[in-house]
Amino acid sequence: MQLLSKLLIVALMASAMFAKTYEIKFSHVVSPNTPKGKAADFFAKRAEELTNGQVKVKVFPNSQLYTDAAVMKAMKFNNVQMAAPSFSKFTSLVRELQLFDLPFLFRDVDHLHNVMDGEVGQILKDKVTAKGYVALDYWDNGFKHFSTNGEQLIKPSDAEGQKFRIMSSRVLEEQFKAVGAIPQVLPFSEVYSALQQGVVDGGENPLSNFYTKKFYEVQTSLTLSEHGYLGYLVVASDRFWNKLPDDIRKKVRQAMTEATEYERKLAAELESDFLKKVKEYSEKSGKLKIYKLSADEKKVWNKAMSEIYPKFYDSIGKDLIEKAINTK
Ligand code: LMR
Repeated sequence: MQLLSKLLIVALMASAMFAKTYEIKFSHVVSPNTPKGKAADFFAKRAEELTNGQVKVKVFPNSQLYTDAAVMKAMKFNNVQMAAPSFSKFTSLVRELQLFDLPFLFRDVDHLHNVMDGEVGQILKDKVTAKGYVALDYWDNGFKHFSTNGEQLIKPSDAEGQKFRIMSSRVLEEQFKAVGAIPQVLPFSEVYSALQQGVVDGGENPLSNFYTKKFYEVQTSLTLSEHGYLGYLVVASDRFWNKLPDDIRKKVRQAMTEATEYERKLAAELESDFLKKVKEYSEKSGKLKIYKLSADEKKVWNKAMSEIYPKFYDSIGKDLIEKAINTK
């Protein structure tokens, strides 16, 4: 009996030693101390825990491994297994995902979540799946705000002639053109130096990116406009995902579900913290003016920018836009 239990222990140890391991490289472009960065690290920890170390996740933040433009291709070749690009980065793959870029589409966070987690979100995930990726979960960042070194944006005409960095999205391009501004596509990793060197005057960012990438150091004004939304779709390489044994895949999925819950909570919690920090900087340095648009001022921007919707009835789909608007 004793011999039998010893043999059993040896066999168990051997199987643990020789259990196949799977490596996931998770690439993203933001700081580790953002909601996305923290959730990627959380996912790494939980995936390893739940699989008793059979899955090892290595997170590469700050565009260390790939820019968002390159990551989708790298994932196709299984050179990287997971990423969480913002919606605009899917433009060339699934143009319908530009829906999320439409200015003033979401009434509030609840509306946004109901769109993401409902029929519209599923339709969009299916389109990403059809392109050979595994569409996992939607992650939050936050509503975007304008910043610039030019005239502070209070009314739409203030944007005239100013150059704004945008992500690669035709919606964002048209949004800025609608107010007479000049959009310029740049990767996230180049935004700080582009602002510093005057390649562009300004940009649009959620507070977490504005703060953690220190864009406040190279901008003279921030307008709290909440004119659009920036969020993410977590995707995996299907070559990698579909080869995982069922039990391992289930545990990795579980780790992702937990990470998503954590990420969304964190995004909501950190928002006010980032604002506080940006305000502190503004007061201490005297170098950044902050202005919050009133509800009436927002309406003026909304009117000027929402005129672009019909231009996207073909590419995004009038139906899908209406479905999103009509989501409770
Ligand atoms: C950007 O390029 O501005 C964002 O997509 C960065 C990010 O991942 O939040």
